[in-house]
Amino acid sequence: MGSSVEQNILVTGGAGFIGTHTVVQLLNEGFRVSIIDNLDNSVVEAVDRVRELVDPDLSNKLEFNVACSVLRLSWNLQNREGDLRNKGDIEKLFSRQKFDAVIHFAGLKAVGESVANPRRYFDNNLIGTINLYETMAKYNCKMMVFSSSATVYGQPEKIPCMEDFDLKAMNPYGRTKLFLEEIARDIQKAEPEWRIILLRYFNPVGAHESGRIGEDPKGIPNNLMPYIQQVAVGRLPELNVYGHDYPTGDGSAVRDYIHVMDLADGHIAAVRKLFADPKIGCTAYNLGTGRGTSVLEMVSAFEKASGKKIPIKLCPRRPGDATAVYASTEKAEKELGWKAKYGVEEMCRDQWKWASNNPWGYQKKP
Ligand code: UD1
Repeated sequence: MGSSVEQNILVTGGAGFIGTHTVVQLLNEGFRVSIIDNLDNSVVEAVDRVRELVDPDLSNKLEFNVACSVLRLSWNLQNREGDLRNKGDIEKLFSRQKFDAVIHFAGLKAVGESVANPRRYFDNNLIGTINLYETMAKYNCKMMVFSSSATVYGQPEKIPCMEDFDLKAMNPYGRTKLFLEEIARDIQKAEPEWRIILLRYFNPVGAHESGRIGEDPKGIPNNLMPYIQQVAVGRLPELNVYGHDYPTGDGSAVRDYIHVMDLADGHIAAVRKLFADPKIGCTAYNLGTGRGTSVLEMVSAFEKASGKKIPIKLCPRRPGDATAVYASTEKAEKELGWKAKYGVEEMCRDQWKWASNNPWGYQKKP
């Protein structure tokens, strides 16, 4: 705790699901944090709760106040001061203070929406990131942790997925992650002083153990756990289980679910690695547990944790879904010194605490 010498981290998308959990851990570890977020899929309330969760001693420290004052500006939607698509917004942040590194979460991630509206994905994810690199270069901040995804493995031919597998994308969202990985590699190759870590997340679930922050997607959830959670609290009638004829133990698809607090700690490990290793170049790491869990196993684990029955409907496979995907965790363990601590039981316990305390997410019941 508190070992860093007040390094100042810019967190893009810091009001979102993974962002808020990571900001809590960064503050707990003694980093100064500034958030930039356009609130496209997040709310101000989430950041207010981050502030509540942090030890009062830390919240009195300058870094936390800095974070808040920057936030106050970025929250002004009329001025849209928190949008990476506006280079001026990023420029304002960098001209006011020096950042030691950037953790770049901001981006859109709904696969179906990306198929229907690819330009929106290219604009947000690609243009936003290119603007960020330009400004970082201008202000000589050349350390970045980037949110990539296991989606870059496509339908893996072998499991566990290793970082040196061939990469492919199955849809426009996946293509933005793949392109952004390639862009990172090209920039670092041309300008070797850059240090970039690409973190390939498997399936982030769970919530902070307090139950105060968690995932709150707008509209009908696309992903499994937020959907189960909304069935459990009565917002949705039943879960559609997509695929029951996969060649797996119980016929449903297998994924590598990872507790969001483990994921947050993976970012701390990555930031520390950037500062410690001048030879890191541009390197990718999987963040997963290395264990596969089927959809039906996840449903029963959640039923057990919540004491709620989750009615299910067995449906055909969802187009584009892979049979089984899970991570090789060796590289992250060896090079980042990071390993996931939590299992499916804790993921469901903490997700249920968040869901039962906040059945409508950050909003009041509509
Ligand atoms: C999905 C995206 C991935 C993205 C990630 C972001 C696809 C093909 N992949 O991963 O690119 O990075 O989300 O978090 O969309 N399921 C159901 N019923 C539901 C929802 C999901 O049975 O209502 C099943 C799915 O078919 C899948 C598993 O649950 O087998 C996990 O689905 P999901 O949470 O959407 O994650 P991924 O598809 O692994």
